[in-house]
Amino acid sequence: MHFDENEAVYVRELAIDDIAPVYHLGEELFTSDLYPYLYRTWDEWEVIGLYNTDPEYCLVAEIEGQLAGFILGTIITKASLIYGYIVWLGVSPNFQRRKVGDKLVDQVVARMIEDGARFMLVDTDPTNTPAVKFFTCKGFGNVRQHISLSMNLSQHEHYGRLINYENQKAERAGYRRTRPAIRSTRKSDGMKSEVALNSLGNDSQITEEYEELGVMNYEL
Ligand SMILES: CC(C)(COP(=O)(O)OP(=O)(O)OC[C@H]1O[C@@H](n2cnc3c(N)ncnc32)[C@H](O)[C@@H]1OP(=O)(O)O)[C@@H](O)C(=O)NCCC(=O)NCCS
Repeated sequence: MHFDENEAVYVRELAIDDIAPVYHLGEELFTSDLYPYLYRTWDEWEVIGLYNTDPEYCLVAEIEGQLAGFILGTIITKASLIYGYIVWLGVSPNFQRRKVGDKLVDQVVARMIEDGARFMLVDTDPTNTPAVKFFTCKGFGNVRQHISLSMNLSQHEHYGRLINYENQKAERAGYRRTRPAIRSTRKSDGMKSEVALNSLGNDSQITEEYEELGVMNYEL
């Protein structure tokens, strides 16, 4: 059956009821085995946060009433330059190669141009060949690779000792130190820090205990 792409894809602004379906579609797309970097940074706060801060750049595409794809973007202003940044783009596997991504990008870019953007940015996992091909096809270029490093703290000689110390302390006290939920930062912040860590505060007892461990070079 011939598919009439121009009539079938309907793009509109993301609404509150779309938050959960968009999040789940992202979960289906940004898997740990395919794209570990995207997987690590995708969570429900990505959708909720961008919907709160940049609703005009959060769009969904529908085909016959079904969620076909989404785009979440923002504007970055640096000195006098205004960049449109596509933070997330996803098209359901059922609807890929039907110009859904194409239309979502066109509409968000048009909105960003209207708001002063004259450059566009996007990033993705280097192994994400379909996305790289897609964005190249849309006119993006000047590819730069970003190197990301990670560390398992438990296996580190020094930090591992700190973790053991914290665990033993919690066991002794019969509690686990509770902290406000740590939320992963947006992809855009990812280069600065992967997670927002809370300060340990000025608790003098903690300070003394850390002194005993000889770790006073750290800001507590
Ligand atoms: C990348 C993605 C958004 C493309 O969406 P899409 O709706 O399937 O893309 P379109 O149909 O608009 O494709 C436009 C053009 O891009 C290129 N393209 C798109 N997908 C491609 C693929 N898998 N392989 C090669 N080229 C591709 C083609 O040139 C295509 O034109 P054509 O179909 O006439 O050949 C989609 O594959 C996707 O959701 N991937 C998983 C999530 C992801 O990686 N998101 C981006 C990073 S956040």
